[in-house]
Amino acid sequence: MVAMVEEINKVGVVGLGTMGAGIVEVFARAGFTVTGVEIDDAALERGRTHLEKSLAKAVAKGKLTEDEQRAILGRVTFTTSRDDLADAHLAVEAVPERLDIKRSVFADLDRILPPAAILATNTSSLSVTEIAALTSRPGKVIGLHFFNPAPVMRLVEIVTTVVTEPHVRETATQVVTRLGKTPVAVGDRAGFVANALLVPYLNHAVAVYEQGLATREQIDAAITSAAGFPMGPLTLMDLVGLDVLLDVMDVLWDEFRRPRYAAAPLLRRMVAAGLLGRKSGRGFYDYS
Ligand code: CAA
Repeated sequence: MVAMVEEINKVGVVGLGTMGAGIVEVFARAGFTVTGVEIDDAALERGRTHLEKSLAKAVAKGKLTEDEQRAILGRVTFTTSRDDLADAHLAVEAVPERLDIKRSVFADLDRILPPAAILATNTSSLSVTEIAALTSRPGKVIGLHFFNPAPVMRLVEIVTTVVTEPHVRETATQVVTRLGKTPVAVGDRAGFVANALLVPYLNHAVAVYEQGLATREQIDAAITSAAGFPMGPLTLMDLVGLDVLLDVMDVLWDEFRRPRYAAAPLLRRMVAAGLLGRKSGRGFYDYS
């Protein structure tokens, strides 16, 4: 008999960058008890501030009452100790996209969380199967891929591997539904589904910009005005982070080796120069 989690109520989120802090907000708003974990006090404070600002904005807009804001914040605990996840039913990892960092996180989660707990990754560019293989419970490892900004975007890709236990997929699907999101089951292939379609399009916009066919504003306006997308591709790249998108392009290239998956040289150079988008103050546009 496989040990199963009866009901998911306590959730740990490891890594409180843009995605992790947004994921904490999504779970806490949906009534889950959340423990947010970061590597040091400074990173923890950044995550806490991100959450507090987002909720304060919702209150100022009249989308959330002060009582609801207090209740949401009351459900969230912040810590620098992964050991505080000892009674969590589910952990969602959202640390930087490097296998060495994931390895240390998943070794700890595997050791600390109860054997029946589900370990999820928000990775957009690493293989969920490889991450699962870092643990002694690969059947209980799954991808929960949120989109940026996590509190707003409805889709969550549920990434299963060849060894994911069926009840883990079902539980994850129920959790995503409880979050008010739309779960879509996808297989563990580079880019999953949404990024395999979206990121080459964004990369193509960089190539068009690099060729000097139009200005950045004209490229963005072409897409918002002609195709009705909420953001133009260069603005969206600045929101998501050029480094994140380059990582996705590189895994698509590694897996499929097709010309349409070759990263635009300008994208690679901008990442090398530290022009990562909003988070670094400059990308295709200047935010300083
Ligand atoms: N956190 C919380 N809420 C946010 C937010 C954030 N970071 N950014 C915007 N919002 C909320 C606003 O508060 C507002 O809420 P209300 O309607 O309740 O007032 C709502 O979203 C709309 O925001 P705005 O009015 O400020 O601005 P907008 O209408 O231009 O929308 C947007 C902003 C939602 C980001 C919209 O432009 C959009 O959908 N852009 C496309 C985003 C996208 O494609 N994301 C996927 C990226 S790919 C990815 O993430 C995957 C990966 O692995 C790389």
